[in-house]
Amino acid sequence: MDLQDTRAVVTGGSRGIGEAICLELASRGVEIAIADIDEDGMADTVDRIETETDSTAEWYYVDLADPDLVDERTDEILDDLGGVEILVNNSGIMGPTAPLEDVTVEEWDQMMHVNLRGQFLMCRAMLPTMKDAGFGRIVNIASITGKAPLYNRAPYATSKMGVIGLTRTLADEVGEDGINVNAICPGSVEGPRIQRVFEKQAEARDVPYEQVEEEAKAESPIGQLVQPEDVAGVVAFLCTSDADRITGQDLNVSAGRVMY
Ligand SMILES: NC(=O)c1ccc[n+]([C@@H]2O[C@H](COP(=O)([O-])OP(=O)(O)OC[C@H]3O[C@@H](n4cnc5c(N)ncnc54)[C@H](O)[C@@H]3O)[C@@H](O)[C@H]2O)c1
Repeated sequence: MDLQDTRAVVTGGSRGIGEAICLELASRGVEIAIADIDEDGMADTVDRIETETDSTAEWYYVDLADPDLVDERTDEILDDLGGVEILVNNSGIMGPTAPLEDVTVEEWDQMMHVNLRGQFLMCRAMLPTMKDAGFGRIVNIASITGKAPLYNRAPYATSKMGVIGLTRTLADEVGEDGINVNAICPGSVEGPRIQRVFEKQAEARDVPYEQVEEEAKAESPIGQLVQPEDVAGVVAFLCTSDADRITGQDLNVSAGRVMY
């Protein structure tokens, strides 16, 4: 499918991977609705889309931890867009880096609410419109941490494995409605977020920051971290007709760190 003149809702488009996804889709002619809690960040992404591409974008304050707000704002988004072909569930929080016995119920719940229930809520809101149109492309951002263990990160890993489960079962459920559902599992993506993760890992293990970063790179057969644009390119690919017969998959974009 040529993506020109399609419409996408992207969560977490205010920065990082989500911003790169918005710019990649917009560069292919996709009209973008960004759903996020960072208003300044969203406004900056909208500015970038409008100056760097020929497409248009709008932002909406959507706290994925608030189901009523999600329902209210997604109605507004669908009214404004007049339909939707693409949903990218990218928003996610890091949550605690701590031994499991030190994780609080509040931290656990917030992690699941944003990273997992938020994706369910967004899918639930977009599916009726996609089913009516007989077409949809949903891309859920998971993580290789859903597959491979990451020290002291059980809540995050659990939420991301949940995203893979959601992806597989939803793909099975809506395939006959013309809706493909896939997940992407990024490895360590260069940027401020992974710096924070490495800092916390270094602190927890009492080793230097550089050691954690070097270990992450060394786990890649090509000795590299991932770039946000690498993930954005795969999101766009999964929305094109080249990926019409790809559904229910979890694709690693991890510089080879995970191979299953
Ligand atoms: N950066 C990495 O190395 C990496 C690796 C694997 C997976 N991921 C996943 O990729 C996605 C994007 O990561 P990133 O590195 O760009 O992170 P980031 O922290 O830079 O961006 C996360 C985005 O989610 C938004 N967000 C946070 N809480 C929200 C809420 N309650 N409601 C709505 N939006 C909310 C933030 O405002 C932000 O725009 C996340 O799902 C993350 O788990 C990242």
